[in-house]
Amino acid sequence: MEKHYLFTPGPTPIPPSVLAEMAKPIIHHRTRDYSALFSQVRLDLKYLFQTDQEVLIFAASGTGAMEGTISNLFSPGDKVLVTRGGKFGERWEELANAYGLQARILDVKWGYAPKPQDVSAILKEDPEIRGVLVQATETSTGVSSDLKALGEIVRPLAGTALIVDAVSALGTFDIPMDRYGLDVVVSASQKALMLPPGLAFTALSPKAWKFTESSTLPKYYFDFRKELKNAQKNTSSYTPAVSLVVGLAASLRQIRQEGLEAMFARHARLAEATRRAMAAIGLEPFAKELPSAGVTSVCMPAGLDSEELIKILSDRFGITVAEGQGSLKGKIFRVAHMGFVDSYDILALISVLEMVLVQMGHKVKPGAGVAAAEALLLE
Ligand SMILES: Cc1ncc(COP(=O)(O)O)c(C=O)c1O
Repeated sequence: MEKHYLFTPGPTPIPPSVLAEMAKPIIHHRTRDYSALFSQVRLDLKYLFQTDQEVLIFAASGTGAMEGTISNLFSPGDKVLVTRGGKFGERWEELANAYGLQARILDVKWGYAPKPQDVSAILKEDPEIRGVLVQATETSTGVSSDLKALGEIVRPLAGTALIVDAVSALGTFDIPMDRYGLDVVVSASQKALMLPPGLAFTALSPKAWKFTESSTLPKYYFDFRKELKNAQKNTSSYTPAVSLVVGLAASLRQIRQEGLEAMFARHARLAEATRRAMAAIGLEPFAKELPSAGVTSVCMPAGLDSEELIKILSDRFGITVAEGQGSLKGKIFRVAHMGFVDSYDILALISVLEMVLVQMGHKVKPGAGVAAAEALLLE
């Protein structure tokens, strides 16, 4: 017998209660039952996004909501600033290029966070920049951004919107959209929301809704203004992903029950326990600044390949962790502790990791990582 454990930064494990809801016979989406469920989902999403604005839902992966954000806010030739510190910063750049925007790049060394003062300096130098595109957490490196500082810089600029890809961050740490002055927050179902992939979310500030009035880029499925009108009537423009929305209602109920503060604290503890365990095992963190609360990136010891580690974890122990992406392939591995994850999951992972590393020739005292994590979890 083998149990399977998923420690990837999406998809993430799904609570049995959510799975059970999604397994029920499907209902039709133009019914009173669906509208009632959807109306509660709308309220609970506002709670999670910490906003008074509508949170739109699309049947897409997170990239769909990123793409929709570009096509709904901007027009061909508009200038945007992209902070590029990993794979998903590159995705903003690719999307901006695909839609004919002029993307100015702020290169951030992988493993480091974008410096708010650099963003501020570029915006002062080029007041024509209409959007600042950032990651709340750059999943490929496990580094987060200082959204509070970025919000303070962009909020006073009426002609510039701060656009946050929080696909892997929402729910793992505090991202108060309205309080920080974030203009767009994008997320997706398969991370801390504890659902399968397939739902994309986006919320717009009043400033961002103003941008949509002048945008001339083509849009059809991802037409935010049309979707807003329908959402406000507790329906959607097209057939929604009914089963996923039913699951979403259940996962949001669970999030409400735990409460945002407790949920962020749990993620912070699991992240800190993971980091301390890795240090005790003698592994270097890849994230040098603002390490994520949802995913920890870890450098392999010299001479060892993370692909081999990941293969042994999977083949022999049924544990899935994530590879390094792009140039980091083979050099790092990434452990997610987001969504439906608790202390015992993390302790199990650390103990297996120690065994495999010993087998691969890494010098580590068995139990060192587990002891470090346990000490933190007992605090
Ligand atoms: C930070 C970030 N942005 C965007 C995406 C893309 O989302 P999706 O794969 O759901 O399209 C991901 C997915 O891992 C992500 O982690």
